[in-house]
Amino acid sequence: MRIDIITCLPQLLDSFFAASILKRAQDKQLVEVQVHDLREYAINKHKQVDDYAFGGGAGMVLMIEPIAKCINLLKQQRTYDEVIYVTPDGELFGQKTANVLSLKQNLIILCGHYKGVDERVREHFVTREISIGDYVLSGGELAAAVIADSVIRLIPGVLSDETSALTDSFQDDLLAPPVYTRPADYQGWKVPEVLLSGHKANIEKWRYEQSLERTRQRRPDLLAE
Ligand code: ADE
Repeated sequence: MRIDIITCLPQLLDSFFAASILKRAQDKQLVEVQVHDLREYAINKHKQVDDYAFGGGAGMVLMIEPIAKCINLLKQQRTYDEVIYVTPDGELFGQKTANVLSLKQNLIILCGHYKGVDERVREHFVTREISIGDYVLSGGELAAAVIADSVIRLIPGVLSDETSALTDSFQDDLLAPPVYTRPADYQGWKVPEVLLSGHKANIEKWRYEQSLERTRQRRPDLLAE
């Protein structure tokens, strides 16, 4: 998989993708993430990428030309399955969308800033608009990082234990069960006996019941689905 992220704040994302599981996934060549600085595609020597909104009003708008230049250049090199624009008015992101995107080959994620992007970008380049929640961030970079992270960890081979993505919360509309590690007794706070029993079937049954109970208590809406 290849993910190209277009942003005017590349420094926000560079360190994120240079760490941990995401770095390992790239080192193993399971995914390639390229962060593109929109200012490198600016139309003038002032590296301008935004301008005032026609009709007035507060806030700057990202211009179509630098974005078009960057996307067109990328499209000359490969075919993209989706051009995603991250925006608070997009479809709400969740595990199902992460699963769908993890099966794609090439993705572009465009980060908005200021008051957003010229509407013509959305009309003519963007194929999917995604929000990560009902709140407004100062830019799309965190949203792009959230989406890329949740998608990349689903690619087979990225996690050392391949089953561990399958047992994540939400993967089957249930929250994950509680987990414990050593010591089995911390100052009288004990790990549930069944987890120490070595009885695989009982452990699975306990985990399923815990998942169900946790979901019932915290996210009954998931069960209603
Ligand atoms: N950009 C600003 N806020 C956002 C949000 N909630 N989701 C996606 N992109 C955003």
